[in-house]
Amino acid sequence: MNFVEWTAEMSVGSDTLDGHHKMIIDCLNALHPLLESDAPDAKVLAVMAKLEDFVLVHFSDEEQDMKRAGYPDWRAHKELHDRMYDVVFSLKSDIERGEKPDARRLFQLIQDWLVTHILGEDRKYIPYLTSPTAKPVGQWKRSNGREC
Ligand SMILES: [Fe+2]
Ligand SMILES: [Fe+2]
Repeated sequence: MNFVEWTAEMSVGSDTLDGHHKMIIDCLNALHPLLESDAPDAKVLAVMAKLEDFVLVHFSDEEQDMKRAGYPDWRAHKELHDRMYDVVFSLKSDIERGEKPDARRLFQLIQDWLVTHILGEDRKYIPYLTSPTAKPVGQWKRSNGREC
Protein backbone atom coordinates (compact mmCIF):
# COMPACT_ATOMS: atom_id res chain seq x y z
CA MET A 1 0.00 0.00 0.00
CA ASN A 2 1.19 3.49 -0.80
CA PHE A 3 2.12 5.91 1.97
CA VAL A 4 0.04 8.62 0.30
CA GLU A 5 -2.78 8.21 -2.20
CA TRP A 6 -3.77 11.07 -4.48
CA THR A 7 -7.43 11.91 -3.91
CA ALA A 8 -9.84 14.29 -5.62
CA GLU A 9 -9.61 16.67 -2.66
CA MET A 10 -5.97 17.28 -3.61
CA SER A 11 -7.00 18.60 -7.03
CA VAL A 12 -5.98 22.18 -7.79
CA GLY A 13 -8.30 22.52 -10.77
CA SER A 14 -5.69 21.96 -13.48
CA ASP A 15 -5.12 18.58 -15.14
CA THR A 16 -1.49 19.46 -15.85
CA LEU A 17 -0.67 20.55 -12.29
CA ASP A 18 -2.64 17.62 -10.83
CA GLY A 19 -0.59 15.32 -13.09
CA HIS A 20 2.64 16.84 -11.74
CA HIS A 21 1.44 16.42 -8.16
CA LYS A 22 0.65 12.77 -8.88
CA MET A 23 4.17 12.21 -10.24
CA ILE A 24 5.69 13.88 -7.17
CA ILE A 25 3.52 11.71 -4.91
CA ASP A 26 4.68 8.61 -6.84
CA CYS A 27 8.28 9.60 -6.10
CA LEU A 28 7.55 10.18 -2.43
CA ASN A 29 5.78 6.80 -2.23
CA ALA A 30 8.82 5.17 -3.83
CA LEU A 31 11.07 6.95 -1.32
CA HIS A 32 9.09 6.09 1.79
CA PRO A 33 9.90 2.34 2.06
CA LEU A 34 13.56 3.09 1.38
CA LEU A 35 13.74 5.12 4.59
CA GLU A 36 13.04 2.11 6.79
CA SER A 37 15.19 -0.44 5.03
CA ASP A 38 18.88 -0.71 4.39
CA ALA A 39 18.20 0.24 0.79
CA PRO A 40 21.19 0.76 -1.49
CA ASP A 41 22.01 4.44 -1.84
CA ALA A 42 21.84 4.10 -5.64
CA LYS A 43 18.14 3.32 -5.35
CA VAL A 44 17.46 6.34 -3.14
CA LEU A 45 19.55 8.51 -5.43
CA ALA A 46 17.60 7.39 -8.52
CA VAL A 47 14.32 8.43 -6.88
CA MET A 48 15.78 11.73 -5.67
CA ALA A 49 17.08 12.54 -9.17
CA LYS A 50 13.64 11.88 -10.64
CA LEU A 51 12.02 13.95 -7.91
CA GLU A 52 14.39 16.85 -8.59
CA ASP A 53 13.48 16.79 -12.30
CA PHE A 54 9.73 16.71 -11.64
CA VAL A 55 9.94 19.40 -9.02
CA LEU A 56 11.85 21.79 -11.30
CA VAL A 57 9.31 21.42 -14.10
CA HIS A 58 6.34 21.56 -11.74
CA PHE A 59 7.42 24.60 -9.75
CA SER A 60 8.19 26.55 -12.90
CA ASP A 61 4.83 25.67 -14.56
CA GLU A 62 2.88 26.34 -11.37
CA GLU A 63 4.54 29.76 -10.92
CA GLN A 64 3.72 30.74 -14.52
CA ASP A 65 0.09 29.62 -14.06
CA MET A 66 -0.25 31.57 -10.81
CA LYS A 67 1.07 34.75 -12.44
CA ARG A 68 -1.16 34.32 -15.49
CA ALA A 69 -4.18 33.76 -13.26
CA GLY A 70 -3.45 36.91 -11.22
CA TYR A 71 -2.80 35.08 -7.93
CA PRO A 72 -1.55 37.94 -5.73
CA ASP A 73 0.63 35.81 -3.39
CA TRP A 74 2.62 34.09 -6.10
CA ARG A 75 5.94 35.59 -4.91
CA ALA A 76 5.54 34.16 -1.39
CA HIS A 77 4.51 30.85 -2.94
CA LYS A 78 7.59 30.90 -5.16
CA GLU A 79 9.79 31.41 -2.09
CA LEU A 80 8.31 28.24 -0.57
CA HIS A 81 9.12 26.42 -3.81
CA ASP A 82 12.69 27.74 -3.75
CA ARG A 83 13.17 26.53 -0.18
CA MET A 84 11.76 23.08 -0.99
CA TYR A 85 13.95 22.82 -4.06
CA ASP A 86 17.02 23.68 -1.95
CA VAL A 87 16.18 20.81 0.41
CA VAL A 88 15.76 18.32 -2.45
CA PHE A 89 18.98 19.48 -4.05
CA SER A 90 21.00 19.31 -0.84
CA LEU A 91 19.67 15.85 0.06
CA LYS A 92 20.46 14.62 -3.43
CA SER A 93 23.95 16.13 -3.28
CA ASP A 94 24.61 14.52 0.13
CA ILE A 95 23.74 11.11 -1.28
CA GLU A 96 25.86 11.73 -4.38
CA ARG A 97 28.81 12.52 -2.12
CA GLY A 98 28.34 9.14 -0.46
CA GLU A 99 26.70 10.39 2.73
CA LYS A 100 23.95 8.27 4.24
CA PRO A 101 20.53 9.75 3.40
CA ASP A 102 19.07 11.65 6.32
CA ALA A 103 15.84 9.67 6.78
CA ARG A 104 14.34 12.25 9.13
CA ARG A 105 14.79 15.11 6.64
CA LEU A 106 13.42 12.97 3.81
CA PHE A 107 10.38 12.11 5.88
CA GLN A 108 9.91 15.77 6.82
CA LEU A 109 10.00 16.62 3.13
CA ILE A 110 7.22 14.13 2.43
CA GLN A 111 5.04 15.55 5.20
CA ASP A 112 5.71 19.18 4.30
CA TRP A 113 4.95 18.67 0.67
CA LEU A 114 1.85 16.66 0.93
CA VAL A 115 0.16 17.97 3.99
CA THR A 116 1.30 21.58 4.09
CA HIS A 117 2.00 22.42 0.50
CA ILE A 118 -0.35 20.60 -1.91
CA LEU A 119 -3.28 20.50 0.50
CA GLY A 120 -2.63 23.96 1.95
CA GLU A 121 -0.64 26.39 -0.17
CA ASP A 122 -1.42 25.05 -3.64
CA ARG A 123 -5.15 24.99 -3.03
CA LYS A 124 -5.15 28.73 -2.24
CA TYR A 125 -4.68 29.64 -5.93
CA ILE A 126 -7.62 27.51 -7.16
CA PRO A 127 -10.19 30.36 -7.27
CA TYR A 128 -7.81 32.42 -9.44
CA LEU A 129 -6.86 29.53 -11.72
CA THR A 130 -10.47 28.60 -12.36
CA SER A 131 -11.76 32.17 -12.74
CA PRO A 132 -12.85 33.02 -16.31
CA THR A 133 -11.89 36.69 -15.73
CA ALA A 134 -8.32 36.04 -14.52
CA LYS A 135 -5.93 38.95 -15.13
CA PRO A 136 -2.16 38.44 -15.07
CA VAL A 137 -0.31 40.08 -12.18
CA GLY A 138 2.55 42.47 -12.99
CA GLN A 139 5.79 40.87 -14.00
CA TRP A 140 9.03 41.93 -12.45
CA LYS A 141 12.50 41.27 -13.70
CA ARG A 142 15.64 40.36 -11.85
CA SER A 143 18.53 42.82 -12.03
CA ASN A 144 20.00 40.71 -14.82
CA GLY A 145 16.84 41.29 -16.86
CA ARG A 146 15.51 37.75 -16.54
CA GLU A 147 11.91 37.28 -15.55
CA CYS A 148 11.50 35.42 -12.30
FE1 LIG B 1 3.21 25.02 -5.06
FE1 LIG C 1 2.31 22.22 -6.59
